[in-house]
Amino acid sequence: MTKKAWGGRFESNPESWVDAFNASIHFDKNLIDQDIQGSIAHATMLAEQNIIKTEEANQIIQGLKDIQADYYNGNLEDIHLNIEHALIQKIGQVGGKLHTGRSRNDQVATDMHLYTKQHVQEILTLIESLQKSILVIADEHVHTIMPGYTHLQRAQPISFAHHIMTYFWMLERDKSRFNDSLKRIDISPLGAAALSGTTHPIDRHRTQELLNFSSLYENSLDAVSDRDYIVETLHNISLTMVHLSRFAEEIIFWSTDEAKFITLSDSFSTGSSIMPQKKNPDMAELIRGKVGRTTGHLMSMLVTLKGLPLAYNKDMQEDKEGLFDAIHTIKGSLRIFEGMISTMQVNKERLNETVHKDFSNATELADYLVEQNIPFREAHEIVGKIVLWCIQNGKYLLDVPLEQYQSYNERIQENVYDYLKPENCLNRRKSYGSTGQESVQHQINVAKELI
Ligand code: ARG
Repeated sequence: MTKKAWGGRFESNPESWVDAFNASIHFDKNLIDQDIQGSIAHATMLAEQNIIKTEEANQIIQGLKDIQADYYNGNLEDIHLNIEHALIQKIGQVGGKLHTGRSRNDQVATDMHLYTKQHVQEILTLIESLQKSILVIADEHVHTIMPGYTHLQRAQPISFAHHIMTYFWMLERDKSRFNDSLKRIDISPLGAAALSGTTHPIDRHRTQELLNFSSLYENSLDAVSDRDYIVETLHNISLTMVHLSRFAEEIIFWSTDEAKFITLSDSFSTGSSIMPQKKNPDMAELIRGKVGRTTGHLMSMLVTLKGLPLAYNKDMQEDKEGLFDAIHTIKGSLRIFEGMISTMQVNKERLNETVHKDFSNATELADYLVEQNIPFREAHEIVGKIVLWCIQNGKYLLDVPLEQYQSYNERIQENVYDYLKPENCLNRRKSYGSTGQESVQHQINVAKELI
């Protein structure tokens, strides 16, 4: 067994199964780029502060770059100590100077801040790209009418654009949360060392600058023990996944034979091993399902942190796998979602037909009576009776003969038929943020300004 970097005060090494439990290399190898970036900044600063010589720093930096290349060429399996070990092997004892004024505690925190920042920025780009594809669909379907639901029962006709724009706004809030979180992610812990800072004349502001962090931790204990930004990122990921899962559920419902509102592209659907006719919305179902994972990682991180004393504790190593998996999950889900909706076909005629075969214009009839000066409560009662008559006679409101209407209330006139047409129901809605075509167009314009 190789000697441990911290092996000086030990008389024996842990047994290999204990070592395996302690190990984080199988997941923290994801941090290779951030770890090397952090080390280069640290070595640069050490030389600038005359803590090590410039030639030594140059040797260390070149060695680190070679190690990074080796890793990508498949010649290196490992991270923090592994990189240091490989560095010493590559450039000799001078490699051992890299860790001056630094600990794995601030090193790993630096890696995680860099990693989280980079991926949050990538998530932001992916969210925005999904929003753009929602806008393309919305633009095409301002005039497409569909049933709007409450309790999953037909409620009132709405514009398809209006419906899907709801997800644009959810994602806009998600973006705003991720953006805000960057203030708390984009902070340098480097130089906090193990917990109390260091006696070496390091320059934390310089490494902050070299690593492009906007600020630095004021307190070295806080720097090495803060995992709030990880909890926050897991939360933001989970909430975005919750939004995607709601959208996914609609896609699943819309593509059923019962609804047939949309047809998913073959390339985002799968078949059944036994039922030859099947075309399943697996991608949407997987995204709906994956929210379980990200929410689990959030809970797990909160529980891990609960009751942890200052400063670093090995419990904190548990911050990684969940975050890595959550990031991987949301990025995949966002990409798939965009592909899935931008290739789906919206069945305009079918949607139009559905709003002619339901009672989603019943509120309109009540409003019509209100315009004839009948109190709303009374109008509601009258329409309820007409709907009951329709159900008993297999008719919808547009098919009720005028004499029949007038037997309920003589103020109902021929113009009721025009009034009840789904497109007129929509276009009478002019209140701000409503489903009427002018409001929806305005909403789309506001959205376009944002991205
Ligand atoms: N693998 C560890 C982690 O992810 C690195 C920090 C180890 N620090 C220590 N004092 N043992 O948290």
